[in-house]
Amino acid sequence: MSLTPLPPGASLSSYSHLRVGGTAATIYAPANLEEMQRLMPRLDPENTVFLGGGSNLLLPPHTACTVVLDHNMPSTLVIEGNLLYASSSCPISRIIAHSMEAGLGGIEFVAGLPAHLGGLLSMNAGAWGKRIGAFVREVSVIGWDGKQQTLSGDEVEWGYRRTSLRGFIVTATLALEPTDPVAIREAVEQSVARRRSQHPMDLPSLGCFFKNPEGDSAGKLIDESGLKGLRVGDAQVSDKHANFIVNVGEASYADMIELADRIRRVVHERTGIWLEPEVRIIPPAGGGASWN
Ligand code: EPU
Repeated sequence: MSLTPLPPGASLSSYSHLRVGGTAATIYAPANLEEMQRLMPRLDPENTVFLGGGSNLLLPPHTACTVVLDHNMPSTLVIEGNLLYASSSCPISRIIAHSMEAGLGGIEFVAGLPAHLGGLLSMNAGAWGKRIGAFVREVSVIGWDGKQQTLSGDEVEWGYRRTSLRGFIVTATLALEPTDPVAIREAVEQSVARRRSQHPMDLPSLGCFFKNPEGDSAGKLIDESGLKGLRVGDAQVSDKHANFIVNVGEASYADMIELADRIRRVVHERTGIWLEPEVRIIPPAGGGASWN
């Protein structure tokens, strides 16, 4: 099998938007669909991490999980009529650039997110009342048995920061709205500007760290608990938006975990609410500082 595992000592921090992370027991970077199909049945679903844009994953210094990088997978993008067909490894910036050029609007709200399409779909990313799942006409996944299946968007459950999709997302077809390219550009610029003004885009982070509890905002609860600026090592609660934990230098996994844990405890003490992480926290091999 011509899979392409990276060297065992390769650090994953450069693949993480937070710039935190170390090594993994096994790292694969399949180069095409066939390799991915052959790899899937060999993986343990409970012990596998798909790594795309790395914008929502907190990686430990060493993980016993198998990490599967999408970076060598073909990055296809085709537009036909109002349909945009793209592979999951496509960066969002590329999808936005092409949809703008083709005069197809609707997904401007994801502009500025440092993610790949697969990551957005797997967590049904959203902002300002819109979610990516609502635009999915079709999505194709490789299951843990190695078989590829195409589902219509309606067959998938699109919840708040979750979906019913399992396995590796290969491609998706998004149904977009023919729109004046000038209006799309304005909407994209507005989305990026809104993110810049509300979120700490100048420092590495994983976006919102906690999910919003029903009917409330995690950022507001953390802010009202007086935690903005709280720091553990080089991990800090952003002064700009309290649901962002930023890396102000050389933050470690342990710094991130300790800070997140303190936030949770303080918010719980004050409000009775246990915040749940929105980011995916990968446990370290052999225990040690870890979530819960
Ligand atoms: N707020 C504060 N202090 C803060 C942050 C927010 O008081 O430090 C208040 C705001 O003033 C506002 C309320 O909390 O009244 C809600 O804040 P915001 O509009 O920023 O929305 P959010 O609930 O914090 C959610 C998503 C974001 C998404 C925005 C915009 C979650 C966990 N977060 O944030 O998504 O960009 O709405 O729609 O659902 C992400 O997924 O990574 C993310 C950042």
